[in-house]
Amino acid sequence: MTARVYTIASGKGGTGKTTTTLNLGTALAMLGKKTIILDADIGMANLGLLLGLEKCKITLHEVLSGSAKINEAIYDGPAGLKVVPSGLSLKGFQSARPDKLKEIMTTIIEGMDFVLIDAPAGISKDGVIPLAVADSVILVVNPELASMADALKTKALTEMLGRSVEGVVLNRAELEKTEINRNKVSELLGVKVLEMIPEDANVRRSAAFKSPIVIRAPKSPAAVAFLRLAAQIAGAKFPENIAKAEKEGFVDRLARSIFGGK
Ligand SMILES: Nc1ncnc2c1ncn2[C@@H]1O[C@H](COP(=O)(O)OP(=O)(O)OP(=O)(O)O)[C@@H](O)[C@H]1O
Ligand SMILES: [Mg+2]
Repeated sequence: MTARVYTIASGKGGTGKTTTTLNLGTALAMLGKKTIILDADIGMANLGLLLGLEKCKITLHEVLSGSAKINEAIYDGPAGLKVVPSGLSLKGFQSARPDKLKEIMTTIIEGMDFVLIDAPAGISKDGVIPLAVADSVILVVNPELASMADALKTKALTEMLGRSVEGVVLNRAELEKTEINRNKVSELLGVKVLEMIPEDANVRRSAAFKSPIVIRAPKSPAAVAFLRLAAQIAGAKFPENIAKAEKEGFVDRLARSIFGGK
């Protein structure tokens, strides 16, 4: 079986692309799928930051500028996940050639089940190439008009490139208005809503601990949603053993606030 390549895009900045790439990737790895995530936001790289990989000398920048091989830029993440971070320096960004991404994809997909590419916001050249190398695009949107408008533009661009949109991840969704949001979004964008990820303070907390929420707080509402999304994409059963409770109970919350951690 060859790898399935998904690019996680949005149009608008800050909708949760990097959070989704990291947590969907980790959740797929937890399901036993060979998964690699790649930071194609070469200008504002922060996937590596969320995993404590910011000190890595060889990153996608060096690969895209031709000074390193892709295999040298692949690092170990949690649960067997593989990670290709981008560098933080402006110099590295300036010497990187985004069009080289196409060439390295053949090596990246080798032996993998899933490849997830974290795309930058906007529709610059750096943003178009990740859309063009994907088998399918997952749009991450927030329930607000600006995010929808930009996602619609990204969908049109994806289709112009001969690619298709798999569906939408509705992030920071208000749970009490679940069905209204879900229906409105799929109607507006003309694609199905794969999953709704609720607003969850654990997302930020996990980022501070440089650990994906699906590992650090697998029972939290956002983690459960990411695990459900991964199961759907992998065609696997929802991992009940990992996320035993849909909602954290009062006792769990109290225990976590006293003792910290999971
Ligand atoms: N479901 C959520 N609940 C709470 N906070 C969230 C959620 N999703 C994302 N965030 C927070 O929102 C911010 C933006 O998320 P993220 O970096 O994943 O977005 P992005 O689309 O990758 O942004 P950019 O366009 O700048 O690359 C982060 O601080 C993240 O912790
Ligand atoms: Mg990002």
